Amino acid sequence: MKNIVILISGGGSNMAAIVHAAVRDRWAGRFDARIAAVISNQPAAGGLSLAATQGVATAAVDHKAFASRDEFDTALAAAIDVHMPTLVVLAGFMRILTPGFVGRYAGRLINIHPSLLPAFPGLRTHQRAIDAGCQVAGVTVHHVTTELDHGPILAQAAVPVLRGDTAATLAERVLAQEHRLYPRAIERWLEIEATASPEVD
Ligand code: GRF
Repeated sequence: MKNIVILISGGGSNMAAIVHAAVRDRWAGRFDARIAAVISNQPAAGGLSLAATQGVATAAVDHKAFASRDEFDTALAAAIDVHMPTLVVLAGFMRILTPGFVGRYAGRLINIHPSLLPAFPGLRTHQRAIDAGCQVAGVTVHHVTTELDHGPILAQAAVPVLRGDTAATLAERVLAQEHRLYPRAIERWLEIEATASPEVD
């Protein structure tokens, strides 16, 4: 059984879409994988209670309790490693990670970003896309490297930018695609991983 750990900071709608796919949807019989835990750096994150209602183990590692990024990342890695994950999924996880943390999970740490990377890394992606006059926006799932919102692309989906769009209306259109894309990208990752390292009895 392959364990997946999801990291969140907020409402966790992407996490919920992944859990839905894993628990109730297509994973049954197709992948020997499960969502082992959802971990947040925000103890009050709405996504934690949402995950608990789905029967998924949860934990909080409050970044404010640590004096440095290194100390927080060490504690976060300890909370993750309890579950011995094959894959660590960042889903609305709003912390910059240290090179040590990224290196520890190299090749098995992925993120979703609400733009068509490499365009618009960082914050305020939707407003920046509107301000630039983009006619197309979208979402990217990518491997995490030490550079923020960079790294090899796993999957993308595009949406139109419509006349009169605000950051909020565009974000809503992109988010619907995030919920569709992220579970599929994880399924693809699991397929590739199974081919690369078949389990032996
Ligand atoms: C999503 O657009 C995600 O890509 C971004 O934060 C938004 C909310 O995510 N990083 P969620 O509802 O917490 O999954």
